[in-house]
Amino acid sequence: MNTKTTRISQDQLAEQFACCDRISAYWQSRNLCPTAYVETYGCQQNEADSEKLRGYLIQCGYGIVGSAEGADVVIVNTCAIREHAEQRVFGNLGALTHTKRRHPGQKIFLCGCMAGEPTVIQRIRQSYPHVDGVFSTHHLWQFPQLLWQVLSQGKRQFFTEDEPGSIAEGIPQARDSKLKAWVSIMYGCNNFCTYCIVPYVRGRERSRRSEDILSECRRLIESGVKEITLLGQNVNSYGKDLDQGMDFADLLAAIAQIPGRFLVRFMTSHPRDASYKLFDTMAKYPNIAKQLHLPFQSGSSRVLKAMNRHYDRETYLDKVRYAKQVMPDLVLTSDVIVGFPGETEEDFQQTMSLIEQVRYDSLFTFLFSPRPGTPAAAMDDPTPKEEKNRRFDRLCALQNDISEQIHRGYVGRKMRCLVDGTDKDMLTARTEGGRLVRFAGSEDLIGTWQDLTITGASTWSLTGKL
Ligand code: SAH
Ligand code: SF4
Ligand code: F3S
Repeated sequence: MNTKTTRISQDQLAEQFACCDRISAYWQSRNLCPTAYVETYGCQQNEADSEKLRGYLIQCGYGIVGSAEGADVVIVNTCAIREHAEQRVFGNLGALTHTKRRHPGQKIFLCGCMAGEPTVIQRIRQSYPHVDGVFSTHHLWQFPQLLWQVLSQGKRQFFTEDEPGSIAEGIPQARDSKLKAWVSIMYGCNNFCTYCIVPYVRGRERSRRSEDILSECRRLIESGVKEITLLGQNVNSYGKDLDQGMDFADLLAAIAQIPGRFLVRFMTSHPRDASYKLFDTMAKYPNIAKQLHLPFQSGSSRVLKAMNRHYDRETYLDKVRYAKQVMPDLVLTSDVIVGFPGETEEDFQQTMSLIEQVRYDSLFTFLFSPRPGTPAAAMDDPTPKEEKNRRFDRLCALQNDISEQIHRGYVGRKMRCLVDGTDKDMLTARTEGGRLVRFAGSEDLIGTWQDLTITGASTWSLTGKL
């Protein structure tokens, strides 16, 4: 297989901007102000991609709206991580036949991770004729060209050829927030965990050059952004494909040293590659959030091996121990899968005991969902669904207890928080560890850091006062 990363040249990107100009002229000549709606499923990588799509759409003259009704362009940016996520997308895609009937000029597009699955592409071709275009994540940079072809030729377009992956610098990005920004530092994944579809739909791991990342961060901080979240499926293998002598910890340190008052976070860390050097770097710089999302997936070394995770229970616990030792206030979160094929009650007990031992601030819990084409989908899975559901409920109950205890422990403490918005008549803020705090105050505090005394706690959020 060709695994070489393609770097999209500025000339190639200029062709896309020329398409933006054509589309903009197309609408101007009709004296119309077109609108577009982008619906996003899945993780922060998709959120970041949707910001790029909105950036392109604005450049094409579209106004961004909050619903599909009456919009001239609808883009559905999809997630393929579990079957349930896909079913929701197909349901909502079906419902778009009605919005299109009421507004026949509407152009509908499907993109994101599902657009990387041949079976999905086939199903759209056959059963969803109202979808005008499909493009996989590899072809996102060509969206203006795709849209122009649909508008000018009146034909469906599929930009879905499989590729190892490309990197395009300079796509305009319409960011959702002025305070917080996602910055992708790498794309794709090489890990092939046996349950996971991501490497198939997002291609091989590839890193952006550090100078591109650093100048993007500098621009964001100069424009008043207070919090940057670095994104990648496995940020700890950043730079392995580049010849720049810089690993993730070095990159993080370089970002932390940019002048200005801001906080930097990152996700996701793969436990195999999370290094002691990374933890030391986090501990060293005050503006690196003391928060770590370190998915463990299972507490049983046997299951971890079957998952192809390349670490065992003990190494995981060792790393957590070290991280907590150098960062006593560390907020730890994680992902866990219940009901992996062949998971026994004993394996499950190991997962429960790991949770009790580590005591995560919060957990993202998933029931195993077989993804077509992944090795785990073909594994023997004798455990009945009801038993998996029971395990899932037991695990959630345990974690809810722990979360509530940890949160109650915050009561009475003073915490530095970034005030980021409103919720009903309260202000909302985030702690360094990413916890939501509601408190009363004036709206001009939004965008500032405040010391809040925590006055109350529940499983999911905190209340505080200035
Ligand atoms: N790259 C990240 C995870 C991205 S996917 C990492 O390795 O940590 C987010 C989470 O979805 C995973 O951590 C896993 O817990 C869950 N997940 C992935 N595939 C799944 C599947 N087939 N069934 C259930 N959960 C799954
Ligand atoms: Fe999926 Fe594993 Fe890659 Fe995470 S590291 S995206 S779980 S294959
Ligand atoms: Fe989903 Fe793709 Fe993210 S499968 S979780 S949107 S990488």
